[in-house]
Amino acid sequence: MIYSKLGFSGLHVSNLSLGTMAFGRWIDEKASVQIFDTALDVGINLIDTANFYGKGQDEQFLYGTGESEEIIGRALKGRRDKVVLATKVGLPMGKDINDAGLSKFHIMREVENSLQRLQTDYIDLYQVHRFDDQTPLEETLSTLTSLVNQGKVRYIGCSNYAAWQIAKANGISNLHGLEHFVSSQSQYNLLSRELEEEVVPYCVSEKVGLLVYSPMARGMLSGKYTSHNDVPEGSRAARGEKLIQNYFKDENFGRVEAYKQVAVEHDVNLSQFSLAWILNQPAVTSAIIGASKPHHVTDAAQISDWIWSDELKQRVNIL
Ligand SMILES: NC(=O)c1ccc[n+]([C@@H]2O[C@H](COP(=O)([O-])OP(=O)(O)OC[C@H]3O[C@@H](n4cnc5c(N)ncnc54)[C@H](OP(=O)(O)O)[C@@H]3O)[C@@H](O)[C@H]2O)c1
Repeated sequence: MIYSKLGFSGLHVSNLSLGTMAFGRWIDEKASVQIFDTALDVGINLIDTANFYGKGQDEQFLYGTGESEEIIGRALKGRRDKVVLATKVGLPMGKDINDAGLSKFHIMREVENSLQRLQTDYIDLYQVHRFDDQTPLEETLSTLTSLVNQGKVRYIGCSNYAAWQIAKANGISNLHGLEHFVSSQSQYNLLSRELEEEVVPYCVSEKVGLLVYSPMARGMLSGKYTSHNDVPEGSRAARGEKLIQNYFKDENFGRVEAYKQVAVEHDVNLSQFSLAWILNQPAVTSAIIGASKPHHVTDAAQISDWIWSDELKQRVNIL
């Protein structure tokens, strides 16, 4: 495992992180804890969750029900200081008008709820889940700064922000002496490279840490889906994950086959290959893996320090 600083902060994080969006949703508590334990055993120190993660994600009206945070809270007992605990705020937690967003009202309420579910006094990295164009950034940033001052939060980060939104936020923080976002969490993988246009260069230039979610395209880059109708039993797609359908395109099935050939040449499976690709991209601090089985974590750990040659990077770029 490779550890590096999270953006311009002094905090060291592992280049693999554990994503827990499926805990309490598709993965029961016992299985979740096995995955969690395996992650800590292989040296992962960054755990990513959100108040939103839980069964409510699959309801007709999407809202957070907090099961993932609850499971982590119980699993963390006695070893809280071993992990960098990251959670998020901003997505709907109910149906009322103030049950979502990045207002002072909502953040102040939700941070207390997250702390309670996580059974901790502090959150290491508190991330805003997505940009809220209804709330002034000054309000959000001054609220987050007050949480840092109170010791409830150590660092702040953003997620799903465009580069201009991170730049605007950090400019406002400079102007008013507020906390800065040390990291940005975004989707990035071999089949989804839009981030390279603006966010990656911004993060490199301004030393903002990049936490990558869906590094395996929600499982599409494991090679388990070979065509539109091939949905293996027990897979995320079979469990009803809707967003994976965005990857089910003829072009992507073809590219997955091409990547598989190169993976075989290097004696790794496609999941490992896809993950190694993302770890070799500039700006990437950590890839948040959504393991649904303990062996997904150990598979990932095996390639976490595989440094690619320029030749291999160029070859994959033109596939
Ligand atoms: N900020 C945001 O808006 C946002 C959005 C999405 C996710 N996230 C975060 O990012 C985390 C990861 O996202 P993700 O779950 O989409 O990531 P992912 O790593 O791209 O996908 C995970 C899926 O890939 C498959 N997989 C992983 N390793 C494998 C292996 N070795 N062999 C075979 N299959 C393997 C599994 O599918 P099966 O379960 O089908 O076996 C697993 O469920 C989430 O848990 C969450 O913490 C954040």
